[in-house]
Amino acid sequence: MATPRRPTRSRAAGRRAPQAPTAWDRHRLYEQAVQDAATELALVEQVVRRAGRTPRRLREDFCGTALLTAAWVAAGPERTADGVDLDPEVLAWARANRLPGLGRAAGRLRLHERDVRQGPRGRYDAVIALNFSWQVLQVRADLLAYLRSARRALAPGGVLLLDLYGGWLAQKPLVERRRLGGGVTYTWEQDDFDPISHRLRCAIHFDLPGGRRLRRAFRYDWRLWSLPEVTDLLREAGFAAVEVLWDVEPPGVEPRYRLRRTARNQGCWLAYLVATR
Ligand SMILES: C[S@@+](CC[C@H](N)C(=O)[O-])C[C@H]1O[C@@H](n2cnc3c(N)ncnc32)[C@H](O)[C@@H]1O
Repeated sequence: MATPRRPTRSRAAGRRAPQAPTAWDRHRLYEQAVQDAATELALVEQVVRRAGRTPRRLREDFCGTALLTAAWVAAGPERTADGVDLDPEVLAWARANRLPGLGRAAGRLRLHERDVRQGPRGRYDAVIALNFSWQVLQVRADLLAYLRSARRALAPGGVLLLDLYGGWLAQKPLVERRRLGGGVTYTWEQDDFDPISHRLRCAIHFDLPGGRRLRRAFRYDWRLWSLPEVTDLLREAGFAAVEVLWDVEPPGVEPRYRLRRTARNQGCWLAYLVATR
């Protein structure tokens, strides 16, 4: 059976240096397991430039630890970023652990504790919502309200970038394990999929050296939206163009995303939606 690629942003993410065994921190473990700022921001830059804009102003919704927004502002003095998350705990973590390492660039990063539907307006070049976080919006009206507010926040020609996963393996109980190095194992678990509501409950666990386990370090209660559903909602929200970036490499190979109008289904796929204002 093909290994689902959902939680694996890039194999580079799993190669990062493990942290000291005395300081296990679920947020750092999460970043090591499923985030890869360089790859994700290269994609953001690519879609912004293709839309004819210079990548300067970024809003990251569901920003969590602000890994991406921090990397964005660190990439150049002309760059600003706003991160939006409603969890005060993760934003406090970002302020304590991420901003100090940024030096003067920290002055170009603002963190907002609020619902993404009330995110700041800023004439952004890009608004991004990655790692499927937006699937927490399970009701059509809520997702549409979010897409409309994201569109309003963009400059003309600005892009909204969302990722999404699917395939038949996304709809069944599943456990995927991956070694992160340093004796840490990451586990992605899909608990429960309801075919009537498309509600999907998942969790991330970490096994640590010495037999310790961070069970359910993160839990997700999502709706597994389909590509055509979200494409239709993006158009309804007023976006001028909606395109799909599809991984054209076979499973097990480093992903390479290209615009596609049709694709061959597979056990687990990960795609990006690019919506241009
Ligand atoms: C899986 S984390 C995403 C972390 C990171 N951005 C990434 O790409 O991996 C999801 C985050 O979304 C936040 N969140 C959930 N619902 C939200 C909402 N309606 N508005 C703002 N943030 C929300 C949670 O607090 C959590 O920090």
